[in-house]
This record gives sequence, C-alpha cells and structure tokens, in this order.
Amino acid sequence: MDIRNEFPALEQQAYGRPLVYFDNAATSQRPRSVLEMQQRLGVEANANVHRAIHYLSGEATERYEAGREAVRAFINAPARENIVLTSGTTASVNLVATCFCARYLRAGDRILISEAEHHSNIVPWQLACERHGASLEVLPVDEAGELSVEELERRLSAAEGCIKLLAVTHISNILGIVNPVAEIVAVAHKHGVPVLVDGAQGIVHAPVDVQALDSDFYVFSGHKIYAPTGTGVLYGKREWLEAMPPYMGGGEMVDTVTFEKTTYAPLPLKFEAGTPNFTGAACFVPALECARAIGEDPALQDAQRAMRDYLLEELPKIDGLRLYGTPREKAHKIPLFSFTVEGAFPADLAQILDKMGFAVRSGHMCAEPLLRRFGQTSMLRASLAPYNTLAECEAFVKALRRAVNMLR
Ligand SMILES: Cc1ncc(COP(=O)(O)O)c(C=O)c1O
Repeated sequence: MDIRNEFPALEQQAYGRPLVYFDNAATSQRPRSVLEMQQRLGVEANANVHRAIHYLSGEATERYEAGREAVRAFINAPARENIVLTSGTTASVNLVATCFCARYLRAGDRILISEAEHHSNIVPWQLACERHGASLEVLPVDEAGELSVEELERRLSAAEGCIKLLAVTHISNILGIVNPVAEIVAVAHKHGVPVLVDGAQGIVHAPVDVQALDSDFYVFSGHKIYAPTGTGVLYGKREWLEAMPPYMGGGEMVDTVTFEKTTYAPLPLKFEAGTPNFTGAACFVPALECARAIGEDPALQDAQRAMRDYLLEELPKIDGLRLYGTPREKAHKIPLFSFTVEGAFPADLAQILDKMGFAVRSGHMCAEPLLRRFGQTSMLRASLAPYNTLAECEAFVKALRRAVNMLR
C-alpha cells in the first residue's frame, strides 16, 4: 500500500517547509477514498434518512446503514442493534452516563474511573454523580503510567455492591499505553460491575473485537480513524441498551407519538434522535476499509514499530527530557509520546516546532488530573500515524534539539 499517496493532506507545506503531521491522536488525516465519498454523497445521497419514500432518501438511508454495518463488522459486534451512531466519543460517553445512570445509579453509589482518563470520560460521570447523589472513585496509575489489575480487584472487593460501573480508557491519549482491558473487564464482571471502554485511541492502535473483549460498552470517534469529524460510535450490549431510557427526544427515535404518551423506536434508532450526520457516518465504509488495509499490511506495522522504537530510544537522550508513559513491556506502547523538557515551556517548543513544519500538540490535552499526577500542567505530545515515516522522526528529533537549544 502506497500510504503517503492515499493521504493528500500530507503533500502540503507549512510555512514553506514540508508538513510533518504528528498530531494524529487529536485528529487523523483522511484518505482519498473518504474525501471522494464525502463529496460524492453530497450530491448522490443528500436527502434525509429513514423518512421519505423517494429515491434520494432511500440512497441516503442505505449509505448511512452501510456505515453502521461497516462499524459492526470492524468491531465484530453481534448485530446492528448494538451500534448507536453518535457525533463522537464525547457524545457516546455522555449518552451512557446520562441514560445508564438514570436507570441504575442511586444516592450513595459509586462510579469507578481511572486516573488516566480524558476529560470526556471524567466530566460526564461527575455530572451523573451530582445528579444522583453518587460519588466518583479513581483507580490510580503508577509512575510508569500503568494500571494495576490487582489494585482494581482490591477496590472492587472493598466496595462490593457500591460500584455501579467502571469507565476506563483502552489507550490513554497522554501515556500511549495499551491497558489490559480484557483482564480489567473480566475482573469487573467477577464483581458484577459493567464496564465502558473509551476506545478513542484504542480503536486506531489495537484490534478490537467487542465480543471477545466482553465490555458492556465501547465508544470511539470517527475522526481519529480516518473518517470525518462529527461521527462516532457507541457499542452497547443489547440488554443494557434495551434497559436504558432514551437520551434525546425528537424525530427518528419514536414509534408513535400522542400528547399523552410516546413509544420509542427499536434499537438502535431509540438513541438517534434528529437528523444524523448521514454523510459522515456513510464514510465509515471507506475509512474502516483503509484502517483494515493498514492493519493487515505487515510492512506498515513493522514501520510503526520501528518509529516507536526509534523515538523511545532517541527522545530520552535529549538533555532534561522526561517521557510520560513508559510501560514495562515495549509492546504495550503505541507511537505516542508525551514529554516535558526542563527549562522550556511546552507551548514555546510547540510554536518553534510549528514554524519548522512539525505539527505537535501542547497543553493539558484534556487530561488535567493525569498531568497533575505527574506534577505537570502542560506537556508536549507527538502522536504518529501509519502514514508517518522514520525520516520524519529523525528530522523531528533534530528539530526538537534545535528548539530546546533556542530556549535555553
Ligand atoms: C482517550 C480519549 N477519549 C475521548 C476523547 C474525546 O474524543 P472526541 O473529542 O472526538 O469526542 C479523546 C480525544 O482526544 C481521547 O483521546
């Protein structure tokens, strides 16, 4: 696969220099197949879904449902009823935090999350706890950034019956560590606790089979896995989705409406009120086909490991650089590197690097509590995708050294 050629955004320059895009954990670039489909469907299938009898509406509905089927197949969900299409990870977590908690969370109960969560997997639970008089408990990470399954077991034993749900990230957007989610789910289930896995990063870097994983919910965004923004997924086990009340009310999610009583549409439409982003969702077909092709290309997989190993080796050689997310087993690290450099503010470094053509992220990156755990308020992050190259990594290390020297 000639991957560079598939992603036209990579051909651009920034300030007259070749653009090196290392902000993939925030948003990935889109392949030609997705860009073309977006444009084509704007003409060929631009009509409201699930509503009218006419041809164009039929086309739109078919494309939208094909997007759902592509997602179902990609994560091996049992049926289309398990796949709720949303606007992103944040929307999916909020849906579960609102509807699951309305049904199951009572005063005095607890929701357990990990210390490595993105704000999207913290704040919705805080809001739910406030609404229901419950509290939030936090499973810590160690110095390396790893979660302990033994500690999880201890917490669940100590709070038997009180913890109503565990929400945990598959891969932290700061640490880049693949958490042992299958083990975590098994331990939680032993204690009767359902699990939501935040797969915003996991879906991109780890194979996901929701039936093998056995998580109760798995959520992710389309825009991090080559699809357009405003697309997202909530996978849920059927029994939970059936038991949860609807989220938003409106068109599409109803069966019959009278002023006295409304009955709801069957799954998954019960959770899809209003006109969805049907063009975006339809693009899951080419986006996930691209992800599948990348995942099955041994050369691209080797190249990703080589980039990870190179940066794991070279970054710490920079004087004063501290890397966060250093698992005991290298295989558990994805090519995502958050770091600080003594004597240089992350925002200043990011600005200099930007002028050199390198797009990296700086700031708290929506995980303030995790940064605080490591004594930081801001970090710099380079997050790679399969279309990046070792040559870009080598150039990045050189540029970073120069930037650091400019600030010291
Ligand atoms: C681990 C994780 N969770 C949740 C999110 C939120 O995703 P979105 O903004 O697409 O809803 C992100 C985005 O960076 C993330 O990395």
